[in-house]
Amino acid sequence: MKGIILAGGSGTRLYPITQAISKQVMPIYDKPMIYYPLSVLMMAGIKDIMVITTKEDQPNFIKLLKDGSQFGINIEYKIQPSPDGLAQAFILGEEFIGNDPCAMVLGDNIYFGNNFKNMLVNAKEYAENGKASIFGYQVRDPQRFGIMEIDENQNVLSVEEKPQNPKSDYAITGLYFYPKGVSEMAKQVKPSKRGELEITTLNDMYLKNGNLRAELLGGGFTWFDTGTIDSMMEANSMIRLVQTNNGKIISCPEAIAYNQGWIDKDTLLEAATLMQKNDYGKYLFKVAEKNKSLKLEK
Ligand code: DAU
Repeated sequence: MKGIILAGGSGTRLYPITQAISKQVMPIYDKPMIYYPLSVLMMAGIKDIMVITTKEDQPNFIKLLKDGSQFGINIEYKIQPSPDGLAQAFILGEEFIGNDPCAMVLGDNIYFGNNFKNMLVNAKEYAENGKASIFGYQVRDPQRFGIMEIDENQNVLSVEEKPQNPKSDYAITGLYFYPKGVSEMAKQVKPSKRGELEITTLNDMYLKNGNLRAELLGGGFTWFDTGTIDSMMEANSMIRLVQTNNGKIISCPEAIAYNQGWIDKDTLLEAATLMQKNDYGKYLFKVAEKNKSLKLEK
């Protein structure tokens, strides 16, 4: 299974801030925004990840994430020449994806909550068996999102991109799992009125083939699309609150890697030492101390 983080886009909504840096390397509380979606893919057990960015921003992402070996994963980079739509990621990533299933997460989406890891592992298994998955979250402003209509058994009835009269208030969040062959499917997506290859059109194709399922991120779950300054501020406060209350770091790639057995203790301690002056580093020392017995995955 492959994974893509889509972290391009013009970023004009956050000007003047994003005139000099990419939104997805900006901080959400104590870590760069892209650590959150990266952690989602890692929690799903995905080790081969492609980060898609603009040409101008690519060097910063490489500086931050390198080849991924510090997290026990492989990271490749790809340029999206212009923001022509979310579904374009699977065309740009065709060679990287090959004949594998592929998940994609948007670089500015933040997820945390109960039972998430199980949902992710489940979606991965479904993708390996020919079914795509989308993740719904109840919102108060459904006109702003892709929207899924579902029946009482959680079957998907329809998907629509930013409908004027939404059939439900379940937003389709920026996380998608597809079976093998997704690049071929994406090539059949026709540009929308706004000129983009819409992810919702791709999802509709899977729906029409009877191969789209939904997971609902229910009560107690938090999802942010940090597309505006206000949503970034909200996410900052929420992450700060939760981390301060329970003493854990949310979306910490080093800890996930260590707990999955993808990095050894020395690698974890190297990262911890680098950040020993702050709570992130101290947390990594704690993780190393707690999980002494874990074996490295061969
Ligand atoms: O966040 C969830 C929503 O994301 C979904 O509910 C919608 O169905 C989906 O279309 C998308 O809507 P947005 O209006 O939020 O998409 P936006 O154009 O803002 O792009 C989302 C992120 O993806 C943003 O960080 C920029 C990046 N992006 C976007 C496009 C169109 C790219 O990297 N490349 C692109 O071509």
